[in-house]
Amino acid sequence: MRSESRGAEGRARANARQRRTYAKEAATYDDDPWERRLLGTEHRAWCCSQALGNTLEVAIGTGLNLPHYPSDVRLTGIDLTPEMLERARARAASLERRVTLQEGDAHDLPFADGTFDTVVCTYALCSIPDDVRALREMMRVLRPGGSLILLDHTASTVRLLSWLQRALEAVSRPLKGEHWTRRPMPRVQAAGFAIRAHDRLRAGVVERLVAVKPDTEPGTEQRAGGEPFEAAR
Ligand SMILES: C[S@@+](CC[C@H](N)C(=O)[O-])C[C@H]1O[C@@H](n2cnc3c(N)ncnc32)[C@H](O)[C@@H]1O
Repeated sequence: MRSESRGAEGRARANARQRRTYAKEAATYDDDPWERRLLGTEHRAWCCSQALGNTLEVAIGTGLNLPHYPSDVRLTGIDLTPEMLERARARAASLERRVTLQEGDAHDLPFADGTFDTVVCTYALCSIPDDVRALREMMRVLRPGGSLILLDHTASTVRLLSWLQRALEAVSRPLKGEHWTRRPMPRVQAAGFAIRAHDRLRAGVVERLVAVKPDTEPGTEQRAGGEPFEAAR
């Protein structure tokens, strides 16, 4: 399990690169063909349907998930890149969706411990420089019993496809800090979450999961909403 844990200076440098990358990509991000052609657009609605209560979306980007949240979810979104957030703001306004959007770093979330009932993160752990630290932060800001909902692309279970992804990653990692083969699941377990639901779709390229921050008082766990799905494996 390879992670890019680094010191504060290394994170600041890596963040600066991500900010430059996404400042350039913001205008065209929503037209990216990968999701439509390879990953599938249906997972966003599934993820958002699991959110309950006071919800934080980490690295919200241009706000592609905004149309999918239930209206009673109280939503906050953070992202590193002002140009991405600007688009999220415009989307929220056109949807008349109330959301608090602010600049923030997933490595050091600007919230007190136990603030949120739900944390959502989609297609972003692949590009947050230190994903292990980001997961620890997600754990910290969740209340005990709260849910983490993750969606990302990872190495395919089909060998040929995973080789192609590794080749792609050899270019995309140094160029724009994007990983194609990072696996969220073992990192989520190592961070101390209990996996409640998990599946791999699209030849294993898409991984989505619901995990719970352990609660010292039994029986007070939040139950994720939405459709049931396969047990963790
Ligand atoms: C591939 S985009 C995903 C955007 C959105 N989550 C989605 O599902 O479309 C990755 C996002 O992660 C953000 N990002 C990268 N590193 C970050 C960090 N350290 N903290 C917060 N956001 C970060 C980028 O600015 C970018 O908006």
